[in-house]
Amino acid sequence: MKILIIGGGNMGLTYAQSFLRTQNASKDDMMILEKSPDRAAELSKKDIGTVFGDSDECVPLADIVILAVKPQDAKIMFASIKEKVHHQQVFLSIMAGVKIDQIKEGLGTSKVIRAMPNLPAQIGRGMTAFTSSEEVTRIELITVQNLLNTTGKTVYVETEKFIDAATAISGSGPAYVFLFMDSMISAARGMGFSPAEAELLVSQTFLGATELYNSGDYTCQEWIHRVSSKGGTTEAAMQSFDQQEVKNHIIAGANAALQRAIELGQGN
Ligand SMILES: NC(=O)c1ccc[n+]([C@@H]2O[C@H](COP(=O)([O-])OP(=O)(O)OC[C@H]3O[C@@H](n4cnc5c(N)ncnc54)[C@H](OP(=O)(O)O)[C@@H]3O)[C@@H](O)[C@H]2O)c1
Repeated sequence: MKILIIGGGNMGLTYAQSFLRTQNASKDDMMILEKSPDRAAELSKKDIGTVFGDSDECVPLADIVILAVKPQDAKIMFASIKEKVHHQQVFLSIMAGVKIDQIKEGLGTSKVIRAMPNLPAQIGRGMTAFTSSEEVTRIELITVQNLLNTTGKTVYVETEKFIDAATAISGSGPAYVFLFMDSMISAARGMGFSPAEAELLVSQTFLGATELYNSGDYTCQEWIHRVSSKGGTTEAAMQSFDQQEVKNHIIAGANAALQRAIELGQGN
């Protein structure tokens, strides 16, 4: 099975390396089409498959084509490969906001899967939501899911509406977590810890809390209850967060991200 990645930037490279690391593809089966000559030269040194600067040779050979260019480059990319695509090929797009119908129309093809990964995919801890056009067969969908799973976990969603929603939760979500971490680091600094101590206290607390959450069946509310004792320090913090409506503000932030994802999708 020949895989072509169009756009060898951050995400394109992440996918190529993840497929090879997990032996889901061999170097002989990996092709990367990269427009920028400097970037193409860099990629060639990485020994991750054959790097192409021209679509003529590589597009017709591919069974699966991963579209990993920036959304604003999509139309030009579609026009440059349209004549070389064939109907058996499966297209996997990770371009934010570019809809399945736009890809079908742009390429004149029908087997399209759309996925929304997130930044931790770069270290194999990503979260990807994906959906597909009805022309994609079950076997093709499983094959692509296996590829996506090399970068972390995946969830299949029934409609593209949930791709926008996943963009607002898992796509932008790492930034929400970093904001919470940054706030705690500031609090720790205010209490007199050095920057290194503050970062260690906070990063290890996040790691420990998420691993604890993943290791058991308790909900977040149940874990909060287990950490808080009556009249204790955690309860004091929770009461303060409640008074400031921190939870409502975070929900409002995620909904603002959803609105923006919808708007960007309409603008393409
Ligand atoms: N980074 C993330 O965490 C993340 C998460 C979810 C989704 N995404 C999506 O992933 C896609 C890629 O993001 P990225 O951060 O990897 O972008 P990137 O680093 O800019 O990589 C894109 C690469 O594609 C090249 N390119 C542009 N047009 C091309 C064409 N027609 N043929 C071949 N190569 C072409 C670009 O070259 P030039 O620089 O010369 O234009 C660039 O090297 C985006 O659509 C983004 O929405 C990213």
